[in-house]
Amino acid sequence: MSKFKFAVLISGNGSNLGSMIEHVDNNKIKGNICCVFSNNPVAYGIERAKNAGLAYEVLDHREFKERDDFDSALIKKLEKYEPDLIVLAGFMRILSSTFIKAYEGKILNIHPSILPKYPGLNTHERAIESGDEHHGITIHFVDESLDGGPICAQSILEIGDSNIEELKERIHALEHDLYPKVIDWFAQGRLIQKDDRAYLDGKEIILKY
Ligand code: GRF
Repeated sequence: MSKFKFAVLISGNGSNLGSMIEHVDNNKIKGNICCVFSNNPVAYGIERAKNAGLAYEVLDHREFKERDDFDSALIKKLEKYEPDLIVLAGFMRILSSTFIKAYEGKILNIHPSILPKYPGLNTHERAIESGDEHHGITIHFVDESLDGGPICAQSILEIGDSNIEELKERIHALEHDLYPKVIDWFAQGRLIQKDDRAYLDGKEIILKY
């Protein structure tokens, strides 16, 4: 059997990508990154991919008029790498049904909030401004809604007196720890999406905050 391989889609800094690269190198993710893809030609994550000797692809979404055209081009770019999983890591695009269908049950995303709270942008600000006691991260399979799809895992922290910058840093630390674990669950066939639900070791994942 060929080794499990995943593609990582980014738009920016790529600190999560950095953590995945480390975990692959340390065999904590049992698989390889077959391709890093960015829709942003100047994303720092591309440098991380280059430094790690990974294959990378760039397609500037601004060159496409329709979302579907961009997504079809993206599918074409990725198919030669034959990824077993698509990992969204700070990828700032909503994917069309064309893409979701092409990789049904094989797309993970990470979002910096305790979903279903705060889909979309500026989650740290929103959590602080709402006076929330807790903030956190969610890893989920991807459907066509914004930051939607069956939840696989969450980590939660107490906001305390952290300001936005401190909170962002603390959230990133949670992400760098949890995302590689969830990817490895998937790599080992322990995590699956069936219909609209996520299962770990055959048990439905139901998280209640
Ligand atoms: C992360 O906070 C992730 O949850 C969100 O975008 C950010 C990406 O950070 N989707 P990085 O590019 O991995 O540093």
